[in-house]
Amino acid sequence: MQYLDTFFEKLWQQYTAITPQALAIHELLNQHETTLVNDHVAFRTFANSPYSISQLEPELFKLGFKAFDNYQFDKKKLLARSYIHKDSPTKIFLSEILWQELPAGSQIIIRKIIEDNSGDKAFPKKPISLSSGRLWSMPSYVDYLALLKDSEYAAWLSVWGLRANHFTIYVNYLRQYTHLESVIELLQQHQYLLNEEGGVIKGTPQDFLIQASTMADKQLVKFPDGSEQLIASCYYEFAQRFEQPNGDIYQGFVPSSADKIFESTNSNK
Ligand code: NI
Repeated sequence: MQYLDTFFEKLWQQYTAITPQALAIHELLNQHETTLVNDHVAFRTFANSPYSISQLEPELFKLGFKAFDNYQFDKKKLLARSYIHKDSPTKIFLSEILWQELPAGSQIIIRKIIEDNSGDKAFPKKPISLSSGRLWSMPSYVDYLALLKDSEYAAWLSVWGLRANHFTIYVNYLRQYTHLESVIELLQQHQYLLNEEGGVIKGTPQDFLIQASTMADKQLVKFPDGSEQLIASCYYEFAQRFEQPNGDIYQGFVPSSADKIFESTNSNK
């Protein structure tokens, strides 16, 4: 599937450019594995905006993805939708923040982001895609910190924009590291920092999906005031899926696990 490869390759280049650990872990696994398959690639965006899930998903439909299920994260004020492809084991997970439910201060900052460029004639010509990056001006560092207090998700999104938030190794396709536990052991041997929110492994075989992730890398980012700040970029995830009673491998996501995986970009953890 050449067009799918092209889609994922662009996202991978963009992701590894700010996530050096992903490239290093990929190479580490590649020493023992012949093929690495992605379970899913995840994105973050703003609901009720030109960048909402409903605006972004046509790109996926054109690539042959079909909507699979919807998810809700009340505490983080997020909605999400997953997509599957008949010719690919790699799923897509789009989430969006219901920013109008955040405190007033953050709403003002996000409204500014969403309305940014609206007066710019060139803007509507720019196609909005999942690899567009940040389509708005860089927020001030003060605004970034204000968002960080209300929603770590929104702060991350304000800086990094539309791009893969994480890639996920599909453990089922590994030939040597056939269990999530053995992948975790390898990562720990190499001193990778893992997301320990609610335990390193999220979910149980009874959920038909178990997941783990690293903590996000940090990148030096230049803000409009000229200052450079070290902020969270992206992380790498690892997923192992199980057969359901009907014999099919589970394709969905487990909200209570995903909720904890979202914390992988939270530098305060
Ligand atoms: Ni994920």
